[in-house]
Amino acid sequence: MSVTTRREGSVGYVEIDNAPVNAIGLSVRSGLQQAVDWAERENLERVIVSGKGGMFAAGADAKEFDSAPVEPHLPDVLNAIEDSYVPWIAAIEGVALGGGAEIALACPMRIMAPKARIGFPEVTLGVIPGAGGTQRLPRLIGLSNALNAVTGGKPLNAQTALKMGLVQAVKSEPVEAAFMVNSEALVTIVPVSELPEPAIDLEVLNTARKTVNTKQAGQIAPLRAIEVMEAGLSLPFREGLALERQAFLELRSSDQAKALRHIFFAERAAKTPSNIIAEPVVPEHIAVVGGGTMGSGIAYAVLNAGFRVTVLETDSEGVKRARENVEKVVEASLKRGLIDENKANERRALFSASTNYADVSDATLAIEAAFESMAVKCQVFAALEQSLPAGAIIASNTSYLDINEIADSLSDPARVIGLHFFAPAHIMKLLEIVRGNKTSDIAITTAFALAKRLRKVPVVVGVCDGFVGNRILARYREAADTLLIDGSTPWEIDEAMVEFGYAMGPYAAQDLSGLDIAHANRRRQDATRDPARRYIPIADRMVELGKLGRKTGAGWYRYPGGNGRVEDPVVADLGIEEAHFAGIERVEYSADEIRERLTLAMINEASDILHEGIAQSAADIDLVTVFGYGFPRWRGGLMHYADTLGAKEIVSRLTRLGNEDAIAWKISPLLSHCSENGIPLCDVG
Ligand code: 3HC
Repeated sequence: MSVTTRREGSVGYVEIDNAPVNAIGLSVRSGLQQAVDWAERENLERVIVSGKGGMFAAGADAKEFDSAPVEPHLPDVLNAIEDSYVPWIAAIEGVALGGGAEIALACPMRIMAPKARIGFPEVTLGVIPGAGGTQRLPRLIGLSNALNAVTGGKPLNAQTALKMGLVQAVKSEPVEAAFMVNSEALVTIVPVSELPEPAIDLEVLNTARKTVNTKQAGQIAPLRAIEVMEAGLSLPFREGLALERQAFLELRSSDQAKALRHIFFAERAAKTPSNIIAEPVVPEHIAVVGGGTMGSGIAYAVLNAGFRVTVLETDSEGVKRARENVEKVVEASLKRGLIDENKANERRALFSASTNYADVSDATLAIEAAFESMAVKCQVFAALEQSLPAGAIIASNTSYLDINEIADSLSDPARVIGLHFFAPAHIMKLLEIVRGNKTSDIAITTAFALAKRLRKVPVVVGVCDGFVGNRILARYREAADTLLIDGSTPWEIDEAMVEFGYAMGPYAAQDLSGLDIAHANRRRQDATRDPARRYIPIADRMVELGKLGRKTGAGWYRYPGGNGRVEDPVVADLGIEEAHFAGIERVEYSADEIRERLTLAMINEASDILHEGIAQSAADIDLVTVFGYGFPRWRGGLMHYADTLGAKEIVSRLTRLGNEDAIAWKISPLLSHCSENGIPLCDVG
């Protein structure tokens, strides 16, 4: 039974019981409908509804969204609750999200536990509230608050919900409190749907639209939510509800909703592979080698998860810098309100920095984040092998270097693994787990356990230059640089990709991270680069000119006074000059052509990555591109997007581009295979 009922005197107790998150699927909807009938049959004074396992309900069961809706539909069930002559009280623990929050809105009274959260995250799944949320919420908490809650999708804590009037009380034991409620007072409460609708406020509506257009550009659900909420302001409740339902059902089967569901479930499926059953090492003390920006970010991420951390540096200057860097992250987190002073002190207490490897002799996990040089890495790993207890896992945060070569420099290569964090390491969710030829299963399970503690999205990748993410990024940048010499400007390329859904284009992003890192990589790759492949020297010229990005005040753009970016005529001239030297007649590319080339370059490279077994599945590549590289989540990740185009179409476009440059656009064998056999990329792996 997904909903259980029991009677205590004249009070009915209804419990949603659908582990793990009490998602509202068919059985819960039917159970609630039956509970309404039961309460009336039993002539109860009131009903208390709550969720089993300290969780009210996480919303509609999104797994049902791929099939046709089946009766009873949630809006009808909730209308029955609201219309029943037996008044219901929602006793909210854990979370009441989406349909869960809508159940609460249908109850005349809502009591919330202090740590519970209530909210409407439907837009994060590409839909809008579909069971009265868009119509009841403005009536209850006003238009502005309702618009924020629905378009932003962020759950509210109990105090905020109380202040807004979303719930009537916050009590440590909401079910007990609900049992104490006076039934006579309860029947006098006006149902939310009967409250007057707020007046139309064009300023508030315009502000909401503006915010969505900047913060959620390209996404259709938040704008549709505003439209439905606005319409509801001048419609009787039931008509507004019908409009909401129509929009919800349309959005549910939209490409964006499918893409967002794909990422939602792919993120949750990112767990230790089922064929690996080794017990993980459970570290208490973790060594981080290197206290630069990356090392201190990793140290802070690990401190956040409650581990004791020692950062190892080469000299006292390094130790001082590591302390300062970690403290900077603590201060920044305090300033942003992510932690309070107590939490900041807890992190400070768990942190130390040293030059002495003997200080980590009890650490069972080490993460090296030293300079990107094989010689330096091997030296560090040798020192760690000497100092750490036998069986400790030794990880490298290298972005490009060969984990197998590092492992082979140790007497026990099985303990070596790659843990590729992304900057800033305490914020970015992706963790590439690099599995070397000899990496043990224990090292893999340890990496997954760490990712879970750190609330990261773990993806196992194989060894190659750049692993999954940076290898795709290199190809993206190469395609962009080719356009730069052949006719486009950084601005045009960046704008085209922002329109595609990236928060920033490749050149604005490089200005943030610095042009020197990619430059060092190109020098490392000089020896192995295919001499027949086109090489675009513009980025090298930028480095020669000292234009390394924001840190030098200018890169692909200028930043006068440290403010917004402006185009740099010198950069435009570089493109024209290099084209002249190479005998290229520059042409204009439309935004669509720019997007096509950049996305196809990435898809082709990603297909090779999948074909070579560097990534285990297309979904893993989707996670890497969304959580590490800013690929628009609402497009479902690179390979999900590729499947919306179809392998056949991709191969035909690549064939056309191959007429210009057969090497750069050489079609991945996997794409050819999928195209010939009509297989979607998501089915590979
Ligand atoms: N539908 C189906 N399955 C869901 C689900 C949902 N709405 N929410 C969570 N799950 C599943 C997860 O896939 C996962 O399954 P698994 O164990 O097989 O991997 C399991 O529940 C546990 O989920 P998490 O790993 O995310 O558990 P956490 O404890 O970390 O987080 C949570 C719990 C905060 C509830 C989080 O799962 C969450 O945010 N869920 C989605 C909430 C949401 O978006 N609700 C709106 C749905 S749309 C809707 O309600 C429409 C309505 O207006 C008609």
